Amino acid sequence: MAVSTACKLDLFDHLQEYKTAKQLATEHSWNENALLLLLNSLHHIGFLDKKEDLFKINDLSELLTEKNPESLKYACMLWSAEHLTAWQNLEFSIKTGKSSFEKLYQKPFFDYLNQYPEKLDTYHKAMYEYARDDYKNLPDIIDFSQYQSIMDVGGGYGALLQGIKTKNPRIECILFDLPQVVQNVTISNIKKIGGSFFEKIPIQADAIVLSRVLHDWNDEKAKLILKNCCEALYSKGVLYVIENCSDKIKIDLSLLSLNMLAICESYERTAQQYVELCESTGFQLDNEMPLNELQTILIFKKI
Ligand SMILES: C[S@@+](CC[C@H](N)C(=O)[O-])C[C@H]1O[C@@H](n2cnc3c(N)ncnc32)[C@H](O)[C@@H]1O
Repeated sequence: MAVSTACKLDLFDHLQEYKTAKQLATEHSWNENALLLLLNSLHHIGFLDKKEDLFKINDLSELLTEKNPESLKYACMLWSAEHLTAWQNLEFSIKTGKSSFEKLYQKPFFDYLNQYPEKLDTYHKAMYEYARDDYKNLPDIIDFSQYQSIMDVGGGYGALLQGIKTKNPRIECILFDLPQVVQNVTISNIKKIGGSFFEKIPIQADAIVLSRVLHDWNDEKAKLILKNCCEALYSKGVLYVIENCSDKIKIDLSLLSLNMLAICESYERTAQQYVELCESTGFQLDNEMPLNELQTILIFKKI
């Protein structure tokens, strides 16, 4: 919580050079004594360098600054907010099989997020931080140049499409996500469509990517998303499902799966479970390959 508080205050961004608590407190009208307690705590746990009464970021907290290309600042803020509260009420999920988040906040996760522009932005910046690394090799692994159009359904702030568009400038890239999300996307050379994947998707494409989307939903909702994607594909269209498949990787996904239960009433599936979902909604498995040490690409043909 000390680290995420520092992120919320942009403290690491402000400490690129040595400063005293007094200097920093004066610059931002913060309480100097309280700030000193936080700075000393951050030094104690290895997140700040200290020289006499001066503090500065180190190699670790550099990774929590806004401008660092590998920054995880927003992920840190995300995990220490409502996710933490949902985990504090995990016993409800274990007893009922339902989302403790939904019980606490009286709304499904994405409906809740959409009410608060700042929380929504933090969530999507966190997803972007992960996506930036996770998808960087995707355009080299898959030859997307075979398509005229690709749609990323539930594509967030567009990190995945950005990589595809950079390597294949000729392809029409379409980002489909909730209207509140799409309106914040700053990438300019892609088409942005706002809507819900639980309704008919108002545009078609040669290929659809569904990345880290199905794991947010139970089987019934995941099938509805897949049916709508199937309709949004031209005939002979191709679907790329990118997910953490628990049977394909060495990393144990038990805790992540528990997180999906607490937040979204879902779970991390095996590749076979994704194949069953897709094959019951108009697709046939064509190929599969690893994307990175966590995620697998499952490739389906529309039948
Ligand atoms: C876990 S994020 C994945 C984002 C991105 N694909 C990635 O891999 O980083 C799930 C995405 O689904 C979107 N989403 C949630 N409900 C939606 C809905 N009803 N219609 C369209 N998109 C939705 C969210 O806004 C979010 O961008």
